[in-house]
Order: sequence, then structure tokens, then C-alpha cells
Amino acid sequence: MIKQIKIAIDGPASSGKSTVAKIIAKELGYTYLDTGAMYRCATLMALDNGWQESDLDLILAGLDRYPIRFERANDDTQLVFLDDVDVTHRIRENDVTNNVSWISAFPEVRAKLVEQQQTIASQGGIIMDGRDIGTVVLPDAELKIFLIASVDERAERRYKENVAKGIPTDLETLKAEIAARDYKDSNRKASPLKKAEDAIEFDTTGISISEVVKFILEKVAEILDKEVES
Ligand code: DC
Repeated sequence: MIKQIKIAIDGPASSGKSTVAKIIAKELGYTYLDTGAMYRCATLMALDNGWQESDLDLILAGLDRYPIRFERANDDTQLVFLDDVDVTHRIRENDVTNNVSWISAFPEVRAKLVEQQQTIASQGGIIMDGRDIGTVVLPDAELKIFLIASVDERAERRYKENVAKGIPTDLETLKAEIAARDYKDSNRKASPLKKAEDAIEFDTTGISISEVVKFILEKVAEILDKEVES
């Protein structure tokens, strides 16, 4: 049987991680785990309950009480459920996006979600995207990719995504929000966004999705070839 590997994709907001990871998961028949969606669910749970930064105990109890679950839809897209409610679209809205940084800065919240992520990864071939996958969640991943892109390009990508989803958006506001989230994600104490020492950095500015996918699939093939040889 061909060995299945673990693939970690990290990088800042809108660097193309999830688009690329989904295509690769399909291509290889691997499980795709969107860890950002889990932090977004935790954020939505807090917003819906009116919990704030001083309510860490309530947030932690809520994470135990309201399960986060992924399901494959008929059209092959992934649905996200929080306490059995489909929140796939709700968690992409601006209020969630703009509050996710403070929730994901709590080490206790991260510990709970990382444990769930590691359990899912232990089931076989996995590709996960996030901020701390190569450094914390899957430090033993056979392939680690760190995707980056300019703020302008990332804002334009998210702008197009939002317009397609019918979410009202202003491009300049988006640029400022992406830069602010980059800063918070990279400067928090607990598991900040950081390239793992053994990760391959890839700048996707001006590069098509299919080229990024091709590059990563070539790396996977190299790793699997080495396994066969040894
Ligand atoms: O990938 P995304 O934009 O959906 O992630 C939303 C937020 O969740 C991001 O701003 C930081 C946080 N996050 C994190 O702290 N660790 C991860 N592994 C994934 C996301």
C-alpha cells in the first residue's frame, strides 16, 4: 500500500491555503482539515452568547458542550457544523473575521482545538491548513509549506470571494483588516503564525492556483518516491 503522508500548509490570511489544500486533498484522496474554520466556530459561539475576553471559562466550557464537525456536501464542498447547526457561511462574515484574533490568542482555546486536530490527523492521509500546523499541530508532517502573498493581492482575492458570496465589502477596508490580522496572528504569544524551520516558503503573488498545486504535488511525489526506494 502507498504510504500516506501528513501535509501542513501555513500562511497568513488569504494566502491561498484553503483553495490549494482542498484541491490537493481531492487529488490524493486525503482528508482536508480547515483549522481556521474551527477558530471561527469558537468565535461565533462567543459572539452568539455575548461572551467577551473576560469570559474564558465560559468559552472553554462552550467548546466542550458544542461540538465542531465537518461534513461533505453532495457537491463535494465541505460543510461546517457548530452544535449541529450549519455555520459554513456564517463563520465567514465580517463580525466573526474581525473577532477571531482575540479568541485564537488564548492558549487554553488553542490546546482544546489542537487536540481535536491531532485526533483527526491520526486517522491517515491528511492535509491541514492554518497558522501553526507545521510548528505545533503536526511538527512531524513529512511536507510543510508556508504560503505568502502581498497584502494587496490577498485583499483582492478575499474581495472577489466575498463578492461571489454576496458579502458586502470595501477593498481598502479589507486591506487594513488583513494587515491588522497578520499583525495579531504573527505577534500573539501562543503559537504565532511562524514558518517552521523545515517548511518550504512559496510566494503566491502573481502565481496561479494550479501552479501552486502543481508545485506541492511534485513535492509529495518526491517524498513518496523516496519512501518506495528506501
Ligand atoms: O484561515 P482563516 O483566515 O480562516 O483563520 C481565521 C483565524 O483563525 C486567523 O486569523 C487566526 C486563527 N487561526 C489560528 O490561530 N490558528 C490556526 N491554525 C488557524 C487559524
